[in-house]
Amino acid sequence: MKTIATASGKVILFGEHAVVYGRPAIAIPVTGIKAVAVVEESAGEIFIRAPDIGKEFYFKEAPPEDPLRLLVELTLRHLGWENARGFTITIRSEIPIARGFGSGAAVSTAIVRALCAYFGQEMAPEEISAIVYEVEKIYHGTPSGIDNTVIAYEMPVFFIKGQKPLPFKAGCPLTIIIGDTGVASPTRDVVLWVRGQWERNKARYERLFDQIGEVALAGKEAAERGDLRKVGELMDENHNLLRELGVSSPELDRLVEIARKAGALGAKLSGAGWGGNMIALVEEEAIPRVYQALKEAGAVMLFTSRISG
Ligand code: MEV
Repeated sequence: MKTIATASGKVILFGEHAVVYGRPAIAIPVTGIKAVAVVEESAGEIFIRAPDIGKEFYFKEAPPEDPLRLLVELTLRHLGWENARGFTITIRSEIPIARGFGSGAAVSTAIVRALCAYFGQEMAPEEISAIVYEVEKIYHGTPSGIDNTVIAYEMPVFFIKGQKPLPFKAGCPLTIIIGDTGVASPTRDVVLWVRGQWERNKARYERLFDQIGEVALAGKEAAERGDLRKVGELMDENHNLLRELGVSSPELDRLVEIARKAGALGAKLSGAGWGGNMIALVEEEAIPRVYQALKEAGAVMLFTSRISG
């Protein structure tokens, strides 16, 4: 008996960080990069292997706060198989870690899906998302829940913390080029730093979060109208607000600037910032130019993603 399941990465189109403080945001799955989980029968206790991060251990022997252990425990409990044993879970992922692609949530989602298949049960996206969220709290401290939501539902979402996500549907196809700075930046660190700043200067940070929330809302409306120019302008505005928040970096600013100069309609950092990836909105004819410019500028990973209209 052997089951395999995958989960995609994600990017944030609008609203990162402010979403942690209750403002709206838009996230889209990136189906071109995947985490894969395999569950197969084996003798004895549950064994977990994550060769990409050099980890392998018996489930029973991991500390209770180990994220992989917690994930498996919560999933088995949900499925009514808490006493199950006799299988090995192997995790592989091509999603770069700590670069804003939601690698943690993708790995968790792939594991939950593979366990569901192994035990011949189905779980609704919202149930998967809720389990993954518990583990995201270990990885990220105070996450909004947007990563687990977009990845477990595997659809573009308009998201407000604590509310049921709404499907996000643009009025015309959106093409984005995603460029990875190659700089690892754990989400947890940046989210924690922003919290410290917010605690010290609530009025300023609340104002910035409000502005980011307004941009996200305007971005949703512009995308629904199919007004790509406006969406691009709003992405630029969102990037500037994220700079003011203090979460950009020279590498991100540089790639964003280069993408704009090469003809992108707009560009911004995506995810927690200080490193990780940036996204640029492009019209079809500008794709080769923007792609090439980002490549020459040293983006370590580059790909194009399309959101259907
Ligand atoms: C990370 O993908 C997005 C952040 O807003 C954190 C979160 O929402 O949990 C930076």
